[in-house]
Amino acid sequence: MPSLFDPVQVGSITAKNRIFLAPMTRARATKEGVPTSLMLKYYEQRSTAGVIVTEGVGISRVGLGWPYAPGIYTKEQIEGWKPITKGVHDKGGKIVLQLWHMGRAAHSAVTGSAPVSCSPTSYPTQIHTYEGKKDAEVAHELTKEEIKETVQDFATAAKNAIEAGFDGVQIHGANGYLIDQFLRDGSNLRTDEYGGSPDNRLRFMKEVVEAVIEAVGADKTSIRLSPNGESQGVIDSDPAKVFIPAAKWLGEKGIASLAIREGATTQGFTSPDAGQPRLNKEIREAFKGTLILNSAYDRERAISDVENGVCDAVSFGRYYIYHPDLPEMIKQNKPFETNIDLMKVFYSQGAEGYTDFPTST
Ligand SMILES: Cc1cc2nc3c(=O)[nH]c(=O)nc-3n(C[C@H](O)[C@H](O)[C@H](O)COP(=O)(O)O)c2cc1C
Repeated sequence: MPSLFDPVQVGSITAKNRIFLAPMTRARATKEGVPTSLMLKYYEQRSTAGVIVTEGVGISRVGLGWPYAPGIYTKEQIEGWKPITKGVHDKGGKIVLQLWHMGRAAHSAVTGSAPVSCSPTSYPTQIHTYEGKKDAEVAHELTKEEIKETVQDFATAAKNAIEAGFDGVQIHGANGYLIDQFLRDGSNLRTDEYGGSPDNRLRFMKEVVEAVIEAVGADKTSIRLSPNGESQGVIDSDPAKVFIPAAKWLGEKGIASLAIREGATTQGFTSPDAGQPRLNKEIREAFKGTLILNSAYDRERAISDVENGVCDAVSFGRYYIYHPDLPEMIKQNKPFETNIDLMKVFYSQGAEGYTDFPTST
């Protein structure tokens, strides 16, 4: 029976424990998407995680629509990440970069060009830009050639991440962003081989995974999916038909890990009941590899799920924001703080609410 504090293999990474940092956008990079010394401090503080998964990191200009979020497609961005990977490694941590393309959730006011997606749909609400909230635009429907170019952008970004010193990459296939827009029938209205049947809707994800594997190796390639519930206007009428075959296929590819976020998503918050059944048990059976689960974990459920083999590791998001050494808190059985209003500091640039939380000791 493994414990949360046993090591676990994540492809080429031997993680020292099974408590991972969930990917969280925190908007502390420059306007050009270059990581900052504040980000170095934040990630160093969390190097006790088994694996740190970075915030979503833009793979291309058109894919990076979040103000002050970092990228991995320019020389300056690659150089900017190097002190961070080194800092985490020097503290004995492991760090994986999350490859992010926002698709229709981006805005031209930030990216300089129209948002893209599998189909000409729009983000359901207004979009946060440098000039405040703006009405969402109708996405440009990617042509087949543009799909190939986007797949290539993922592969190049993965190579860039390894050049920057990351231990691996996690493809962001969750939460209503570009890959998820292709996966689910609420947002994928295509009638060619990228739309329609679950097999067709899986095609883009598969092409991205194969290209990233070719670029950096399966043992450095992970993916995150969010099968149930609505995410930023993206939903599927029958998630099991898409996500169980996805899990089986990903297992056969021998990727480093599959991360699943289950629960409904409302503006960064999750509730345990997504309104659609959880699929983690079926995914566990279908996927032969390291499985990481997320959403609304507390100490007890994390211990129990790992000990009972429900998953191999769990990732914490919000608790990890204000407990920079969360594994130590769990080890010492210290109660988590639940009374901090994080909403106003999630994306607020400066150090406040980012690097100013005390450690447990
Ligand atoms: C401020 C904030 C930013 C987030 N950014 C990302 C992101 O960039 N990529 C991603 O996959 N999930 C993102 N998420 C979702 C988290 O990874 C996680 O799934 C969510 O917080 C639920 O886990 P928790 O209950 O432990 O907080 C974000 C969540 C929050 C609160």
